[in-house]
Amino acid sequence: MEPSEEFLFKHKGFYFVSNIVTPEYIDSLEDFEIRDSDVFVVTYPKSGTVWTQNILSLIYHEGHRDGTENMEIVDRVPWLEYNIRNMDYVRRPSPRLFATHLPYYLVPRDLKNRRTKVIYVARNPKDVAVSYFHYSSLSVLLETMPDFNIFLERFLARKVGAGFWLDHITGWSTHRDDFNILFLTYEEMKKDLRGAVLKICKFLGKQLNEKELDTVVEKATFDQMKTDPRANYESKQKANFLEPGKGHFLRKGTVGDWKNTMTVAQSERFDNIFKEKMKDLSSMFNWDTNDDI
Ligand code: A3P
Repeated sequence: MEPSEEFLFKHKGFYFVSNIVTPEYIDSLEDFEIRDSDVFVVTYPKSGTVWTQNILSLIYHEGHRDGTENMEIVDRVPWLEYNIRNMDYVRRPSPRLFATHLPYYLVPRDLKNRRTKVIYVARNPKDVAVSYFHYSSLSVLLETMPDFNIFLERFLARKVGAGFWLDHITGWSTHRDDFNILFLTYEEMKKDLRGAVLKICKFLGKQLNEKELDTVVEKATFDQMKTDPRANYESKQKANFLEPGKGHFLRKGTVGDWKNTMTVAQSERFDNIFKEKMKDLSSMFNWDTNDDI
């Protein structure tokens, strides 16, 4: 079954959310002027985007670390394909921070200058699917799926926002030499958040002292972010895309939650489609879809 156009539209092989963007706008991004100092977070949905947005904001902005600045993550690290129209974002002093779910072939042409920094965060696709299923009920912009099995069929049939998980990650990883890119996984961030923050800092050429680093790590933990109105997408002002009372954007924040949702048959069906194709990726990202990682 095709996704309803009320929620998604397909443009250049990629599914976009209907109510927030147009094909013309996506096309216009090709000429978007990039600065060498820009930093882009790139993800497939539900892979740790807001987490990484928050980490970047904490690294770059003392006022975010010490709580004196009350700027929400969506304003601090705006979405390239959603709210960048606001010219304030474009004229910001460097370094500008952006987030995007775009595939490698739809990003601004000049991002391939190989100086601008790109951080790609990937997550075990089984956990992505479970998180995405819950998010589909929570977001008013997406079609609520009556049960996980129906969502899973859509996910495997490539008919969800941002398209097929495998296409997204394969596209970015096979074109990695075209970009100045750091690959991270959600799982390594969970396992060693401090190590991941240090890795990000090294890539960005940012040096934080021990105290600053401690604060970044503390404020980027799941529990802290869940109660941080700048980072939990629950502000009344901005989060008008979430249905009240249907759950939280920061839902569980764990690795391996798919085991609580997927049946053995669903997991096997998933493996049949992904296992072979993921061989190269698994060595790059250190994944086994059956693992807790
Ligand atoms: P779950 O639904 O599994 O809880 P995105 O920002 O790309 O949409 O990803 C959302 C997922 O990242 C959600 O996963 C959310 O809970 C998780 N997440 C957000 N911040 C996190 C943090 N600080 N630590 C761990 N997981 C986090």
